[in-house]
Amino acid sequence: MTTVIDGKQVAASVIEAVKAKSAALEAEAGVRTGLAVVIVGDDPASHAYVGSKSRMAKECGFKSVQHTLPEETTQEELAALVETLNADPSIHGILVQLPLPKHLKSEPIIQSIRPEKDVDGLHVVNAGKLATGDLETGLISCTPAGALILVRTIHGADLSGLNAVVVGRSNLFGKPMGQLLLACNATVTMAHSRTKDLAGICRAADILVAAVGRAEMVKADWVKPGATVIDVGINRVAAPEKGEGKTRLVGDVAYAECASVAGAITPVPGGVGPMTIAMLMANTVIAAHRAAG
Ligand code: GUN
Repeated sequence: MTTVIDGKQVAASVIEAVKAKSAALEAEAGVRTGLAVVIVGDDPASHAYVGSKSRMAKECGFKSVQHTLPEETTQEELAALVETLNADPSIHGILVQLPLPKHLKSEPIIQSIRPEKDVDGLHVVNAGKLATGDLETGLISCTPAGALILVRTIHGADLSGLNAVVVGRSNLFGKPMGQLLLACNATVTMAHSRTKDLAGICRAADILVAAVGRAEMVKADWVKPGATVIDVGINRVAAPEKGEGKTRLVGDVAYAECASVAGAITPVPGGVGPMTIAMLMANTVIAAHRAAG
């Protein structure tokens, strides 16, 4: 039987722990955890994600501030907002939703966030700590941190002897995911769009993590029988069976056919997605605890 990994349930338990931690911080140190989320422009999918993040922050008892800036915002205006948030002691976490509109450079903005408030784990200080094996003092990118917790529900904390393949090499996901798996002693292969014989490499994986951004690209014959498959993709595709103009969400993995081969698999939606938001809350309360000393 294939295990369907229930990301919603695991995320709910992370959120319960976050609520307890933020309540304790407020009771013991008088510090209310604060998260600022910044979004620029009108992308509907980004607005939906940011809305869920702000709502969840409120549910966790945080001070939750959302800055919605118009599409025509300049680099200087965005940089000035980050500076204001950096200097605001009531804000412990800053998240600038990506991608930014094309006329804005995201890298200088991300690198201008104070590393202690970089709850996305994208600042070079945080990325560098993870790359050098320091999993304790920095902040780790939310989606890989959440995906790792799901892997651990199947394999435990020590992945010694297991082959992990990560497909996708982004700074936001693929690179930190590979480093986390490595820190857990997995033997890690980083694959990407230029990899030769991608299917064959994936078939060698005990843990296959797909973050390619292409709907249902990973097929059943890419999956080793019994493997754990973690699907990080969120793709909206046409669903004519639901009616004209209707859509549905699918991952980067062809779910039904891969589920029949895998030992464990994450669904889309309800797998990695809820973990991203939960880990954002977890990072924010960690940042608040550290700020409170
Ligand atoms: N866009 C899609 N996922 C993310 C994320 O985890 N963080 C940020 N900042 N932007 C995103």
